[in-house]
Amino acid sequence: MPYPFYIEKPVHFDDKTGLADGVEPLERRYSDMKNMYLDEDRRKKLEADGNSIIYRFYDMGIPEKENDLVFGTSIVYPGKVGSEYHMTNGHFHTILDTAEIYLCQTGYGMMMMESPEGDVLYKEMRPGRAVYVPGRYAHRSINLSNTETLITFYVFRADAGHEYGSIKDKGFRKIVVEQDGEWAVIDNPRWKT
Ligand SMILES: [Fe+2]
Repeated sequence: MPYPFYIEKPVHFDDKTGLADGVEPLERRYSDMKNMYLDEDRRKKLEADGNSIIYRFYDMGIPEKENDLVFGTSIVYPGKVGSEYHMTNGHFHTILDTAEIYLCQTGYGMMMMESPEGDVLYKEMRPGRAVYVPGRYAHRSINLSNTETLITFYVFRADAGHEYGSIKDKGFRKIVVEQDGEWAVIDNPRWKT
């Protein structure tokens, strides 16, 4: 029986772009992130004005089985929607208590995490730094650089699944904005109990 491509030979991820040879990435543009940023008017404007890609990631087609591992890169391009940095939608795992590892390869960013009970964790990501996302925590990558692409490599249990839950309606409890040229974590005004 032939092996799947990711077993047959190592997948090469480009150092500079984070893109995998021979695998099409998925992408999310401004049009895919309606109401995810605080400044929805600004997001609409960016959608109308070129609708660029905010981030890319991979689905390698690995079977969603407990004993398999999903892996790939998450590539968040620099930019802001109003004062809020480019970020991924973020998700819980459908099997809530499953963890994930992100290894930062390039750029400067943050992993924002929160549990359903409201415990918030956030960790800066720099090249070479691995962030462990504990089970039960929703997680999102945020690019804190205005010039560099944030590239991270992730691994998690293949059957963990993605669940958007309350994130689609309210977002995360905390958001990250630029204030006087620095990043700041602030309460998300859209988030209500
Ligand atoms: Fe995840």
